Amino acid sequence: MLSFNPEEITRLIRHRRSVFPAQYSGELIKKEIIEEILENANWAPTHKLSEPWRFTVFSGPGLKTLGDYMSEIYKEEAEKNNSFDIKKFEKLKNKPLKASHVISIGMKRDEMKRLPEIEEIEAVACAVQNMYLTATAHGVGCYWGSGGITYFESAKQFFGLKADDKLLGFLYLGIPKSELPSGKRKNIEDKVNWVSG
Ligand SMILES: Cc1cc2nc3c(=O)[nH]c(=O)nc-3n(C[C@H](O)[C@H](O)[C@H](O)COP(=O)(O)O)c2cc1C
Repeated sequence: MLSFNPEEITRLIRHRRSVFPAQYSGELIKKEIIEEILENANWAPTHKLSEPWRFTVFSGPGLKTLGDYMSEIYKEEAEKNNSFDIKKFEKLKNKPLKASHVISIGMKRDEMKRLPEIEEIEAVACAVQNMYLTATAHGVGCYWGSGGITYFESAKQFFGLKADDKLLGFLYLGIPKSELPSGKRKNIEDKVNWVSG
């Protein structure tokens, strides 16, 4: 019978924090750790085993490729409705360069559409939580960013996604340069109803 240390798992879950690029030291994450993060993503629960998570991993010069792409597609889209903001353009261009790795988070829609779309998005979110926890266990910081170009239809193709698929954001990863603050949550009691009779 398998046995785990529940106290350790609880400690891992509660110490997981979102760690943002400004908090990364510049040190690179070992490839084996990135591979473990991806492998553990693959073990998320998945209805009908559709395994809808799709990732593209950017590292080294690939981070510049990503930043250049994100800023250019932002520019293209923003110019269509006169909302171009140079600060946003620069931010999209430079943010990936602060990370050790960036992983795009995609949902590949089941071709037979055997499941409601939301269940495939939910499965990808479970996969991302596995990634967050694996990163935390290795002392790696990460965060799921869903801003910028995430919901641009025109951006999907670059990340290997088709019209029915969805881009859900980016996991930025880096080694935290200092201790992480503790998190906070409102009481669970206010979010749960018990029916015991
Ligand atoms: C689906 C999803 C999308 C998110 N998108 C963003 C984002 O675009 N920008 C951001 O600063 N944080 C984003 N976050 C991270 C949250 O800000 C973070 O989880 C929250 O502040 C709680 O902090 P913790 O993760 O350290 O517990 C996202 C988290 C999730 C689950």
